[in-house]
Amino acid sequence: MSDRVFYITTPIYYVNDVPHLGHAYTTILADSVARFKRFTGHRVFFLTGTDEHGDKIAQAAAKAGEDVRAYADRISAVFRETWDALQITYTHFVRTTDPLHQRLVQDLLQRIYDSGDIYLGDYGGKYCFGCERFYTERELQHGKCPDHQVEPTFIKERNYFFRMGKYQERLVKHLEDHPNFIRPERYRNEVLAFLREPLEDLCISRPVSRLSWGIPLPFDPNYVTYVWFDALINYLSGLGYPDSETSHSFWPEANHLIAKDIVKPHGIYWPTMLWAAGIPLYRHLRVHGYWKVEWGKMSKSLGNVVRPLDLTHKYGRDTLRYFLLREMVFGLDATFSEEAMINRLNSDLANDLGNLVSRVLTMIEKYLKGRIPDQVGPESPEDHELRHQADASRATLLRAVDEFAFNRALESLWGLVNAVNKYVDSTKPWELSKKKPQALERVLSHAWEALRIVGLLLSPFLPETGQAIADQLGIDENVEEARIEQAVWGSRPTSGMIRKGPPLFPRMEGGFAAIRGQEDAEPANPEISLAEFQRLNLRVAEITRAESLAGSKKLLKLTVRLGDEERTVVAGLQGQYAAEGLIGKKVALVTNLKAAKIKGIESQGMVLAAEDAEGHVVLLTPDKDIPPGSKIR
Ligand code: ME8
Repeated sequence: MSDRVFYITTPIYYVNDVPHLGHAYTTILADSVARFKRFTGHRVFFLTGTDEHGDKIAQAAAKAGEDVRAYADRISAVFRETWDALQITYTHFVRTTDPLHQRLVQDLLQRIYDSGDIYLGDYGGKYCFGCERFYTERELQHGKCPDHQVEPTFIKERNYFFRMGKYQERLVKHLEDHPNFIRPERYRNEVLAFLREPLEDLCISRPVSRLSWGIPLPFDPNYVTYVWFDALINYLSGLGYPDSETSHSFWPEANHLIAKDIVKPHGIYWPTMLWAAGIPLYRHLRVHGYWKVEWGKMSKSLGNVVRPLDLTHKYGRDTLRYFLLREMVFGLDATFSEEAMINRLNSDLANDLGNLVSRVLTMIEKYLKGRIPDQVGPESPEDHELRHQADASRATLLRAVDEFAFNRALESLWGLVNAVNKYVDSTKPWELSKKKPQALERVLSHAWEALRIVGLLLSPFLPETGQAIADQLGIDENVEEARIEQAVWGSRPTSGMIRKGPPLFPRMEGGFAAIRGQEDAEPANPEISLAEFQRLNLRVAEITRAESLAGSKKLLKLTVRLGDEERTVVAGLQGQYAAEGLIGKKVALVTNLKAAKIKGIESQGMVLAAEDAEGHVVLLTPDKDIPPGSKIR
């Protein structure tokens, strides 16, 4: 067995909601890395799981009217089932309610308490229940929690504190000595910036009188431990620390993958906790950006939360994986839209890759009776160029995966896909078939070999597609057991007969408009009563100002007048109407729609428009002049 080991973790997700696209992204990324490292011969431990204690969960269970333990069991199972449905190859699924985890949390608390790094003190401060932490004035934005946009509650109580401040200098030194400890650089800088201010001690307990859903402090049963002190330890308990051999070999190679929302607990609390407990630090913290949707942040109240299984049911697992990995530059934010996903599906997957495989296999079937010869004549310069491109793509891909730059890894593979397409175009096998049978064999053999390498290198990212390519090429192999050495030119196994199958990726004809059409047609058209209709307050509004909204390709910010009243409305009209052309237009406005914040602007209503199958949008305007504010019946 290989002595090269690799340990990758995802955050353990809160069970206050079922998984959404953001959770799926981190987990799919971790899965791709885990598969890739197995492919390069590493022994891999891949840990994911759920974070189940604390106020947030107790409140969610109460809201659902369920016993908190039963509630946590139910939602944790949904996470696990979702990862199973996405074929995530995790080694272990850890839960903070696991007895082994709880025991380790208590052991480490006791160890740190005994060493003198935990003390009892008084603390008054502003506490955000959503984040489950105290905020300093400096961290608040206009007096509110920057994440939840609510004013924190002032709480004063006796609590236990962890002497985090004591480790400040040591942490700065560690970050300076290990520039790759936190990647990308912007997040390392973010942590260094925190550390430029004095680092306060961390309040690590909650009185049982206020919160009982937590792990009791071993040295004081009147308190439970703060969720982060509980949650972070999953990365050790999930390995079976301290008793298992697994934890000794894997822990020093830990790579924690997270999004930018939880850099502080991972970049500051966790290393200092580890030092206090006398445990060596993890190897790397890898931080990715946030997926936004077209209307800003995903949120339940805006009703724009994207669920991963809805997408895989519609487009397939590998289409989702490809889109997520290809579209986001690691470390930066990205915007999700089904439109962009369908574009990637049609162009990169169906057109570039799918058509290429089907084109090459059709020719092998037609001209070579479905079998590649074992020996072909000497290489031409074009053959050499293709082989060279395969080597170069593999090398670039390896480097990119090391930096977690998945978009570049896939780009380099598509460089090879495009090179094969060009090779086929320029060697013209259909012409060779007429008079040069040996050259024909050589060219198709090279194209086949290049596709074999594409399929293998692709398989950690798109496992089903990698397997389908191997199957169609006539290679009897489970790609999950393949190793990178096989992705070297000429190391092919003897091929059998090719087995041309259905297209790898059927195009979504008609693009996004067609999909939207189907969505509209599918659900029944439910009847509503007159009373229900009358709940809508529709009025004529006059547009007095229109401007494009920074950071959006679709949205315009409109100021509209309804009688004496003025409102701001954000509308998806950019690209459909020039902003200046809208001024003076009278439109139909839904005035009693709950206000929503879109790209930081509160939209106080919705403009009505009609849309055709191609996605052209036309505003509904009164056909004779009528004063703004008039009611629409
Ligand atoms: O923070 N884009 O759990 P959580 C990208 N339990 N990734 C996103 C995302 C988005 N819009 N939204 C969420 C917790 N994520 C703690 C962690 S770890 C010891 C404890 C992903 O359910 C991303 O990985 O709020 C982010 O860091 C994580 O979900 C937060 O999950």
